[in-house]
Amino acid sequence: MPEIETERLAADRSGLDRAAALLAAGGLVAIPTETVYGLAVDATDDAAVARLYQAKGRPSFNPLIVHVAGLDEARALVEMPPDAERLAEAFWPGALTLVLPLRPASGISPLVTAGLETLAVRVPAHPLAQGLLRRTGPLAAPSANPSGQVSPTSAAHVLDGLSGRIAAVVDGGPCAVGVESTIVGFLPDPVLLRAGGLPVEALEACLGAPLPIGGEAGQPISPGQLASHYAPKGAVRLNATAAEPGETMLGFGDVAGDLTLSASGDLVEAAASLFARLHEMNDMGADRIAVAPIPETGLGRAINDRLRRAAAPR
Ligand code: TXA
Ligand code: MG
Repeated sequence: MPEIETERLAADRSGLDRAAALLAAGGLVAIPTETVYGLAVDATDDAAVARLYQAKGRPSFNPLIVHVAGLDEARALVEMPPDAERLAEAFWPGALTLVLPLRPASGISPLVTAGLETLAVRVPAHPLAQGLLRRTGPLAAPSANPSGQVSPTSAAHVLDGLSGRIAAVVDGGPCAVGVESTIVGFLPDPVLLRAGGLPVEALEACLGAPLPIGGEAGQPISPGQLASHYAPKGAVRLNATAAEPGETMLGFGDVAGDLTLSASGDLVEAAASLFARLHEMNDMGADRIAVAPIPETGLGRAINDRLRRAAAPR
């Protein structure tokens, strides 16, 4: 992807105004939080979220944490059972992420949740993150590092990894906590999905009960659940160059279709449109879907991963 000039923004009102304007235009802006620097985008903007995955070089659509200004903003996005309310009241703003059932009308891009029906949500305590969130809506933000590398706790770390690939970084100095947030999921009872900046002991004291370990963060509780989330109603045939009788064709690039992921063969556009196109296939009543070949590079690997799950035997 072409290099852009990454702006280094000051930790003041004008820096936050500039960051908010870049985010509103679909830009990627690294911001300090008390845990690590996050690479923020508008969580409702499919194309911006797709560019975020591309800039980080994430090999797949690992779901993202959405950051909001406060508890009321979180309640608008997710359903909060009593234990979640208790933890939120005690530890937000802070280094705690809660994975909760997503409200259908949340407006959050399906790329943020990777098609899951839950959303990871956090209210960060850092004053600059708070100042920015009060200027914007919900911001999706993974750690601001290329996928697989060490998480950034300073603006310099961010620029080492992502300079030329993001619009700006807000320089808030070093992060106070320095490790990512603790993640708690609800099944519906609370489970620990990732140990992090908030000690488990504090959570257990608040809940008045031990917090069992609930598996790897981001791993579905059952692979079958995950497959059914990605699968459209119709059967899927991959690497098709033309539709056979009775098939509805999903095109890409030169391979035309009834619908297309990207007529120009742009993988960012294809990733941004993937789940929307599969929903449209359902709306059209397509019961056999042929999908054009997608190159196994960049976001194509993530798209193919989802398409393979969609095509897997049910
Ligand atoms: O401290 C933090 O949490 C930092 C700052 C920027 O807020 N963010 C962060 O994001 O660490 P990231 O993308 O590096 O890690 C997010 C984790 C991943 O392990 C992901 O799988 C998990 O959260 N996650 C996100 N949504 C989930 C969901 N719906 N269910 C289960 N796990 C989820
Ligand atoms: Mg990370």
